[in-house]
Amino acid sequence: MSVQVKNIFHTYNKGNPDAKIALKDVSFSIHDGEILGVIGHTGSGKSTMLQHLNGLLKPDSGQIIIGDIDITDEKVKMTEIRKRVGLVFQYPEYQLFEETVAKDVAFGPKNLGMSDEEIEKTVRKSLEMVGLSYDEIAGRSPFELSGGQKRRVAIAGVIAMNPEVLILDEPTSGLDPHAHMEVLNMIRKIHKESTGIIIFVSHNMRDVANMSDKVLVMDRGSVVAFDTPDEIFKKREMLRNIGLSTTPSAVLFDKLDDRGIHIESDAVRIDDVEEALFGYLTGGVSRD
Ligand SMILES: Nc1ncnc2c1ncn2[C@@H]1O[C@H](COP(=O)(O)OP(=O)(O)OP(=O)(O)O)[C@@H](O)[C@H]1O
Ligand SMILES: [Mg+2]
Repeated sequence: MSVQVKNIFHTYNKGNPDAKIALKDVSFSIHDGEILGVIGHTGSGKSTMLQHLNGLLKPDSGQIIIGDIDITDEKVKMTEIRKRVGLVFQYPEYQLFEETVAKDVAFGPKNLGMSDEEIEKTVRKSLEMVGLSYDEIAGRSPFELSGGQKRRVAIAGVIAMNPEVLILDEPTSGLDPHAHMEVLNMIRKIHKESTGIIIFVSHNMRDVANMSDKVLVMDRGSVVAFDTPDEIFKKREMLRNIGLSTTPSAVLFDKLDDRGIHIESDAVRIDDVEEALFGYLTGGVSRD
């Protein structure tokens, strides 16, 4: 399975004096088992692009092919798209509305027409996938949970529909450091246990570098780069020009250089930095 986005254009309020071109010729593709990180300054079109991937917004022109269906084709039913693509909005906890956690997570599967037995199994599995215990939490009101727990219940509601493509719009924003780590670990777990595609937006460059197979960089509605994290975060000048920073790890070597310690490395991911530092400090002795 793959997601192929081909030359997408999108204008808000088309034909009106306040028309706004939000996407310009956006193209990229991503394949099974891959995690795509999307970065870009505020207003660069990230959320607009994500809402095209689950059919919530339709492009002015261009095509989006998910697996074997063209979701931009007018004949394609919304339910066909929803079965494949799950979108978790930014601050999804505001969309919790049922009286119990179990009912909230069951909402999507119910709409897909699953049987009661299937629904209970799915709800249990989805809550466990996001690191929550069904027995402890299923009967509670979603409104009495912590911020991090609420967010995970909302994410479980999307996972419960078993999407092949899981899209998360700024899944860690506004969370404290502990809840932030929990959500990242949850994404890693979902990725390990499924063969699908995960797409997430983040303003945290360290998370994007450490989690993604590919990074899509957007600026004012256009794609300015699409590559591996190593290649993207090397391009500091390009990132600076569009108001973004590189990763703290990449800056680390500059700071050491300022102190007279010169380590030849382009490492941007934390495990590569560890490797480079270890190599420097032990004169290249292998750790194994
Ligand atoms: N419903 C809307 N009507 C009109 N213009 C909109 C609408 N939604 C977004 N826009 C405009 O489209 C552009 C892209 O917005 P979008 O929300 O996709 O950006 P973003 O990259 O997700 O930003 P952020 O990082 O702040 O979430 C912005 O200029 C925004 O003002
Ligand atoms: Mg956004």
